[in-house]
Amino acid sequence: MTSVASWLSLGEGSTPLVHARRLSESLGCELHLKCEGLNPTGSFKDRGMVVAVERAVQAGARAVVCASTGNTAASAAAYAARAGVEAVVLTPAGATAGPKRAQVRAVGARVIEVRGSFDDALRLCRELGERDGYVVVNSVNPDRIEGQKSVVYELLEQLGGAPDVVALPFGGGGNTCAVAAGFAEAGVAPRIVVGQAAERTTTWASAIRIGEPAHANEVAELVAAGRVEVATLSEDQLRGAWERLAKEEGAFCEPASAAGVAALERCVESTLSGRIAVAILTGHGLKDAEAVAQPAEVVVDATLDAVLEVLS
Ligand code: F0G
Repeated sequence: MTSVASWLSLGEGSTPLVHARRLSESLGCELHLKCEGLNPTGSFKDRGMVVAVERAVQAGARAVVCASTGNTAASAAAYAARAGVEAVVLTPAGATAGPKRAQVRAVGARVIEVRGSFDDALRLCRELGERDGYVVVNSVNPDRIEGQKSVVYELLEQLGGAPDVVALPFGGGGNTCAVAAGFAEAGVAPRIVVGQAAERTTTWASAIRIGEPAHANEVAELVAAGRVEVATLSEDQLRGAWERLAKEEGAFCEPASAAGVAALERCVESTLSGRIAVAILTGHGLKDAEAVAQPAEVVVDATLDAVLEVLS
């Protein structure tokens, strides 16, 4: 199932669900990766954004506005371009990954860098949203949550049944709410494990550099109801999971996207043993190319001997 049949669609959804053979072995479960980086703008945001922008346009919006660490901005900008409305994106100055900024510029959105944090940008975004003609398309807009639920239906169909465990990152918590709501609607109740950075405001995973999660109360309610567990992750745990995804599975996601797998790695082994788990990889690795260490390049003369010498 794709998200919605919309005139605005860029083909979001229908992302691959890939069996992670080597990570399954080390975790002692059957792990599948839901590769959301294969959405049109490279992140899960597209599922909800197509719905939010379409409804904003229907409601007569002059412009859509969002605060973003990069992915929401790239997604909002693309759908706004397609819809022919203006997109205004507020980002924390100097704190978003280069490729995400390039995506926003490419499609012609207005970027305003705010001297402050993501939380400051979101506050301003909400204030701007009170002005005539501006519609906020952050996940505080319920249309975003509605659209993002589609990942649940899709993975149920791909797996041919319900997983025992689902893991994903917890930044502002919009996706946690969407996934929990999707499962509730589908009438299944897997264990939902979400990973947040211990160093919320400074984490290396720039996509989830969020001090005050917009959905903190809803996530707390889900935790209290026993529907969601939150794992708080060190930088080393995040980086380790991100490296293992890439080096053991060839799954190159952006740093924040590894938080689900890092959260699974924190689970008591016996609670995962033999279970079917799905980790939602929220964004593509090329979104944050700078996260990859750059060793000195190996440059040789154009002879086989020179190549063999390097390989020896
Ligand atoms: N993963 C990625 C790749 C993200 O970009 C985000 C959030 C999350 C996970 C967290 O999702 O906020 O629903 O808990 N990115 C936002 C943005 C903040 O501006 O792109 P959440």
